Amino acid sequence: MIFEDNKNRIVGIRSLIPSDFDTLVLYFQHLSENTKNRFGPHTFDKQTLIEMFEATTDFIGFIAVDNSTDSIVAYMLIKTGLLQHDVSRLQSYGIQPHPESDCTFAPSVADSWQSAGLGSAMFGFILQYLKSSGIRRILLWGGVQSTNSKAINYYKKHGFQSVGHFEHHGWNEDMMMELIEKQ
Ligand SMILES: CC(C)(COP(=O)(O)OP(=O)(O)OC[C@H]1O[C@@H](n2cnc3c(N)ncnc32)[C@H](O)[C@@H]1OP(=O)(O)O)[C@@H](O)C(=O)NCCC(=O)NCCS
Repeated sequence: MIFEDNKNRIVGIRSLIPSDFDTLVLYFQHLSENTKNRFGPHTFDKQTLIEMFEATTDFIGFIAVDNSTDSIVAYMLIKTGLLQHDVSRLQSYGIQPHPESDCTFAPSVADSWQSAGLGSAMFGFILQYLKSSGIRRILLWGGVQSTNSKAINYYKKHGFQSVGHFEHHGWNEDMMMELIEKQ
């Protein structure tokens, strides 16, 4: 899928493949401290990417690649099912895990591309993939920090709702989206 922002910058949106790993590590290295404080689903090194994407089928990565530089400018991660670490907290709100039809989501966009519509375009792309894979619910990876209003607005815009909150290095929200089949 191709996305063009209002400054006529063009990216291609697609699934991550192993030959992207070195470029993805560069993406991580260029993220600001602020973005890294918001987004940290795993350690940002190549070995971790190999262990996640080559040694298991639990994770699916999506990237946006800048047409003019071939650099990665957004990375979003889906894990099938819920994170073991999140399960008991989600159960405390009455959410029971459905391993076949739940997934866990962690999005990031490069600082210079944030608030330009790219995160929304990628979410639309990912949603198509999830619907065709039989996914019915999307949960956030470790929740979202309550101070991260940019991300909370993003999730709400796309249909996520708050399901609970918890304290871990400050307050965090758990949010969930249910995928409803069109009649
Ligand atoms: C959260 C994130 C993925 C959103 O992607 P994005 O490309 O910046 O978002 P978009 O430009 O598509 O905007 C979608 C919506 O997000 C919200 N949003 C985006 N930028 C915003 C800003 N500066 N202030 C407030 N809300 C904002 C708005 O609701 C916006 O909808 P609108 O354009 O109709 O107002 C991205 O900003 C990001 O990577 N942030 C840092 C990492 C992070 O916080 N990840 C989530 C961890 S839980």
